[in-house]
Amino acid sequence: RNLLHKQLTGERIIVVSNREPYIHSKKGDGIEVHRPASGLVTAVEPVMRACSGTWIAHGSGSADQLVTDRQDRVAVPPDHPEYTLRRIWLTREEEQGYYYGFANEGLWPLCHIAHVRPIFRSSDWRQYQEVNQRFADAVVREADSDDPVVLVQDYHFALLPGMIRKALPKATIITFWHIPWPNPESFGICPWREELLEGMLGSTILGFHTPFHRKNFLETVDRYLETRIEHESSTISRGGNLTMVESYPISIQWPPPWQERQPPVAQCREELRRELGEGAGHLVGIGVDRLDYTKGILERFRAVEKLMEQHPELVGAFTFVQIAAPSRSALDDYQAFDAQVHTLAQRINQRFSRKGWQPILLKAEHHEPEVVNRYYRGADVCIVTSLHDGMNLVAKEFVAARDDDQGVLVLSQFTGAAHEMHEALIVNPYHIEQTAEAIFRALTMPQFEQRERMRSMRALVRDFNVYRWAGRMLLDAARVRQREKLSARIR
Ligand code: G6P
Repeated sequence: RNLLHKQLTGERIIVVSNREPYIHSKKGDGIEVHRPASGLVTAVEPVMRACSGTWIAHGSGSADQLVTDRQDRVAVPPDHPEYTLRRIWLTREEEQGYYYGFANEGLWPLCHIAHVRPIFRSSDWRQYQEVNQRFADAVVREADSDDPVVLVQDYHFALLPGMIRKALPKATIITFWHIPWPNPESFGICPWREELLEGMLGSTILGFHTPFHRKNFLETVDRYLETRIEHESSTISRGGNLTMVESYPISIQWPPPWQERQPPVAQCREELRRELGEGAGHLVGIGVDRLDYTKGILERFRAVEKLMEQHPELVGAFTFVQIAAPSRSALDDYQAFDAQVHTLAQRINQRFSRKGWQPILLKAEHHEPEVVNRYYRGADVCIVTSLHDGMNLVAKEFVAARDDDQGVLVLSQFTGAAHEMHEALIVNPYHIEQTAEAIFRALTMPQFEQRERMRSMRALVRDFNVYRWAGRMLLDAARVRQREKLSARIR
C-alpha cells in the first residue's frame, strides 16, 4: 500500500468504471449506503483509497430502482473520506442500450462462453458509443493536467481508451479487462470487433487476469487489425501508439479490511449453525455469487444432490448455504436463471428434507461484505464452480477470512484463480460426480492437510495482493511511457 502511494506521489489518479463503489439509497427519511456485489469494486476500491483521486462511475438510481439524492460528487468512504466519487447519470435509454444491452447481453456472454447466445443490436451499439464518449468527456474535465494517469475498468468501456487518447495524447491509460477474453473465432462474431479492438489499443497498458486471456487478445488483434505485434516485449503498435499487453492477476486487499474487528471463528461457526437450527458438529458449505448464469450455481446444486445420493450419511448432517446477490434482473436471461436456481433448490430440498433440515439454504438477497466474511469464517468448505470467470475473488476472500488456517476451497478449473491457487480442490464444474466427490473429500479432510493447503493459499493472497496488482501495472506504464519518449526523441 505504501509503495503504491510513493509510486504516485504528486499524481491524482482517475478511475473509470461502470459500477460505483458505494450506492446511496433513500431509506425512510435518511440515506443508506451499501457496497455492491462486484469483484471489480472489491479489488479497485482499496487501491483508490491508497492513491486518492477521483473515481468516475455510473450513478446507480438512474433507472429508479434506487432513489438517490443524486449528488454528482461525493467524498467516500462515507465514514472516512479518502477520495472523490464523481457520478455520471445516465438516462433510462442510455442505461438500457449501453449497460443492459451491449455490455451485458452482448459482450458479457461473448467473452464468457457459458453457452448463452450474445445479442448484438445496432441501437445498443450506438448507446455504448455515446456513453463511452460521455465518460471520456468526464475524464477530460476531471484531469488537472494534460498527462493524467487514468485507470479504465472493464468491458463497459472498450472504446474509452481511444477516446481519451484522442483528447489527451499524453495521458497514461491503464485498462484492465476484468472478464475472460475469448479466442479470435468466438470474438469475431461481434459485428463491431474492429472498433472495439481499436478503442482498446488507445491504452498504454492493457491488462488481463491470465496469460491465456492475454494470448487470446494478441491473436484476436493479429487476426482482425493491421498492427505490429512484438511478442518479446508483448507490445502492439498501431498508428504511432504503443500498447503493452500483459497479464496481471487481480487480488484483494491484505490484510483484510475487517481483520481487527471480526468475531472469532468459533463464534462465526456457532452463529451460522444456530441460523440453520443445528448443533456444533453440523457440516456447512458456502457459496457466494451474484445470481449470474456464468457462476455454475445449478451445477453446484446438482453436485450437492449427488453428494446426498452417494453419501447418505450426510443427509441431515450437511447444509449448503448459497448467498446469491440479485444481479442485472431487468434482463430475460437473468430472470430465467433466477427462476431455475429457485426451482432446482426447491426440488432438491423436497427430495431430501427431513424434519427441521434441508440440504440447501438459498439466500437470494444482498449481503454486505462484512456479513459475508462471517459466513466464510463459519463454513467448512467454500464452493466456487464458475463455468468461466476472469479471476473470481470469492476464492481469495474465503482464504483471507480463514486466519484459523482451516476450511477447504473447492474451485472450478475455469476461473483465473485456479491458475494460482493450486492447493484448492480443483474441479470441472460440468462434471457433477467429480464436484460431489471433491466436496466429500473437503468435508472429510484431516485438519493438518487443511492447514497446509490453507497456509500456502493465504501466503499467495498475502504476497500477491491487490496493491501489488496495481503497482505492477503502474510500473509497466512508466516503462512504456519512457520507451515512447525515447523513440520520439530518436525520431
Ligand atoms: C463482474 C464485472 C464487473 C461488474 C460485476 C458486477 O465482476 O467484471 O464489471 O461490476 O461483475 O456486475 P454489475 O453488472 O452489477 O456491475
